[in-house]
Amino acid sequence: MITGKTKLTGVIGHPIKHSFSPPMHNTAYKKMNMDYVYVPFHILPENIDNLITSAKTMNIQGLNVTIPYKTTIIPQLDEIDEIAQKIGAVNTIQFKNGKAKGYNTDGIGAIKSLKKYTDLEDKNILILGAGGASKAITFTLTYENPQNITIANRTQQNADTLIENIKKQTPYTNISYIPIQNTDEIIDDIDIIINTTPIGMTPNIDECPINTDKINQKHTVMDIIYNPLETKLLKKAKQQKAQTIPGTHMLVNQGIEAFKIFTNQTPKYEYFEKPLLKILTQKQ
Ligand SMILES: NC(=O)c1ccc[n+]([C@@H]2O[C@H](COP(=O)([O-])OP(=O)(O)OC[C@H]3O[C@@H](n4cnc5c(N)ncnc54)[C@H](OP(=O)(O)O)[C@@H]3O)[C@@H](O)[C@H]2O)c1
Repeated sequence: MITGKTKLTGVIGHPIKHSFSPPMHNTAYKKMNMDYVYVPFHILPENIDNLITSAKTMNIQGLNVTIPYKTTIIPQLDEIDEIAQKIGAVNTIQFKNGKAKGYNTDGIGAIKSLKKYTDLEDKNILILGAGGASKAITFTLTYENPQNITIANRTQQNADTLIENIKKQTPYTNISYIPIQNTDEIIDDIDIIINTTPIGMTPNIDECPINTDKINQKHTVMDIIYNPLETKLLKKAKQQKAQTIPGTHMLVNQGIEAFKIFTNQTPKYEYFEKPLLKILTQKQ
């Protein structure tokens, strides 16, 4: 029951009605008998300017941030975590002692998902895409000391900008670009493939971002797309005996990291995964 003591958390975005975060966080609060609630807030662009002041006024404890505010919210924050600052995007805000501090849990959510299946140190990693998700994952990956990171992208300029930023803002230099249609040339030397493009996402489920012929049992392949639950890339990789990791893992882990920032408590993975899989299974 919501009472005067219930603590308020939520997510801001535009649009917001398709967010999976409310069922995941609220299920965990319920399972853990925590007096918290997680609410989706639809914030129109004309109302974003005073968001942080308003959230403080409402005594909100924590907010997730989704499209289109992950970057534009930053000037309103009192503090920003080092890695979120480097990424240039915030998806989680903690309100504590009157201060709003921004974090980015997308990268750590992806890294935790990978580390459940593979080491990252000294590995050769191929990242498909150079957009917002790729940026969060690539910056966070540099802390894990991989041997090499190769960014495959459609538009070279966007990959070059990401690579320049990595070299400027981190000590990591073993990062380079390859056109996305040429990944066959390097795939034998790659250990881990991460798709961060929307290629293969519903309704385009017959599309695949790269030629999969050379994928085999030595590869770990993660697709961050979560709808469908298993993309064409993952299906092909699995058929060829690669280790595969679906996008739901990153979605669950980024949410768990945000929950920890909001509440200082760690929920079980299944508290987040079960409601997510229930909704996504209905969509298949
Ligand atoms: N599992 C999770 O927790 C999670 C979290 C965040 C995002 N996602 C998913 O990740 C995907 C990307 O999100 P984002 O925010 O990073 O998007 P974004 O910023 O728009 O970046 C998209 C990237 O994909 C490339 N791309 C898009 N359409 C393409 C096409 N038709 N052919 C070749 N390349 C194409 C773009 O290349 P150019 O540079 O050439 O435009 C760009 O590199 C979405 O499917 C999203 O749902 C999942």
